[in-house]
Amino acid sequence: MKGIGKWLLLSVGTLAILLLIAITLTIGWRPFLGPKTRPLSERSFERTPQRLERGRYIATALSGCLYCHTPHDWAAPGTPLIPGKEGAGEIEPYAALRGRVVAPKLAPDVETGAGRWTDDQFARAIREGIGHDGRTLFPLMPYARYREMSDEDLASVVVYLRSLPAVHNQLPKTEIIFPVKYLIRNAPQPLRSSVPQPNSPDPVLRGAYLVNLAGCGDCHTPQVKGQSVPGMQFAGGFPFPGPWGDVATANITPDPSGISYYDEALFLAVIRTGQVKARQLNSIMPFSFYRRLTDDDLKAMFAYLRTIKPVQHRVDNTQPPTACKLCKQKHGAGAEN
Ligand code: HEC
Ligand code: HEC
Repeated sequence: MKGIGKWLLLSVGTLAILLLIAITLTIGWRPFLGPKTRPLSERSFERTPQRLERGRYIATALSGCLYCHTPHDWAAPGTPLIPGKEGAGEIEPYAALRGRVVAPKLAPDVETGAGRWTDDQFARAIREGIGHDGRTLFPLMPYARYREMSDEDLASVVVYLRSLPAVHNQLPKTEIIFPVKYLIRNAPQPLRSSVPQPNSPDPVLRGAYLVNLAGCGDCHTPQVKGQSVPGMQFAGGFPFPGPWGDVATANITPDPSGISYYDEALFLAVIRTGQVKARQLNSIMPFSFYRRLTDDDLKAMFAYLRTIKPVQHRVDNTQPPTACKLCKQKHGAGAEN
């Protein structure tokens, strides 16, 4: 009897240790302990006219803040924002989401919106992924990318958002399915050092910063379970089915199967009009949003896109979706890869 007891204790002990190691090596402890976070500070960003303008540019042209946080008419041509509802929040329309994801209202309404949040509550949510209430934000909110947003650009965005007219819009809460709801707690990372503005004269470096803030890669890099498919940066094939139609993103790398034939003038025209010469792009490609980007910024973005690794990957939205072994999605011409 004594021998068996000892043996049992030993095996339970071993199992427990194995389980601890397995958790440490796989999902980690954050799903149980909660996300990494930092305490809120009292900082407030000085409201200057320069910041207001720069913030407006980031939120309404570059970074999709108002694109995601405003209700759209998704079935109408061009998927327009609903006028007068800027920053009023919206339920995300993408069919592949793991639950109901709601981009909350950012306009300052005291009852249902951000009117009571402090500047640092905004700042921590935008670059570090912790909501005003301490909750881990679903990473569709691109905080992992916005970590690279400079301190000055961050201050500008917050100053702009706080200038939006208050608007009333009652929205349901985000409801993420189990176990994703807990696994996302691994994503937030506190930011403890300052992020300088990239003032390099090299357009490629400025372009890299802008393309990151614009989120081109969120749609143009295919993902499996929220992770980019290795080697497929900007190579397209990620399906975006919805009321606007059944399309996958294009390969925008400088490969012959991508956009190697573009020149700067064509790139500017495509981003401004959604028109690739005679071909009209589906309006889930947010050209109606990016059309306000300055020539200078678009040229820098193109200079950067010219330098990324070419990936041979055919995507053709005029063909029916078939399985693609390269990007692990189903898209037009997938079987030809
Ligand atoms: C691709 C869509 C998308 C883009 C682009 C986006 N957001 Fe979000 N944002 C979301 C979603 C969805 C949530 C809510 C996530 C959740 O509920 O877990 C969110 C949450 C937030 C929150 C947290 C609110 C709270 O409850 O504390 C803030 C602040 C915010 N976003 C600001 C911004 C700003 C500023 C930008 C632009 C720099 C931006 N967002 C761009 C989708 C987006
Ligand atoms: C919300 C998802 C989304 C985002 C964000 C996005 N795109 Fe797209 N893009 C698409 C889709 C979908 C298509 C394919 C549309 C079609 O074939 O009708 C596309 C097509 C394109 C094309 C046309 C390529 C061709 O076929 O000639 C270019 C160029 C492009 N995107 C560049 C960009 C750049 C640059 C950015 C960032 C500034 C960006 N996209 C951000 C979804 C997106």
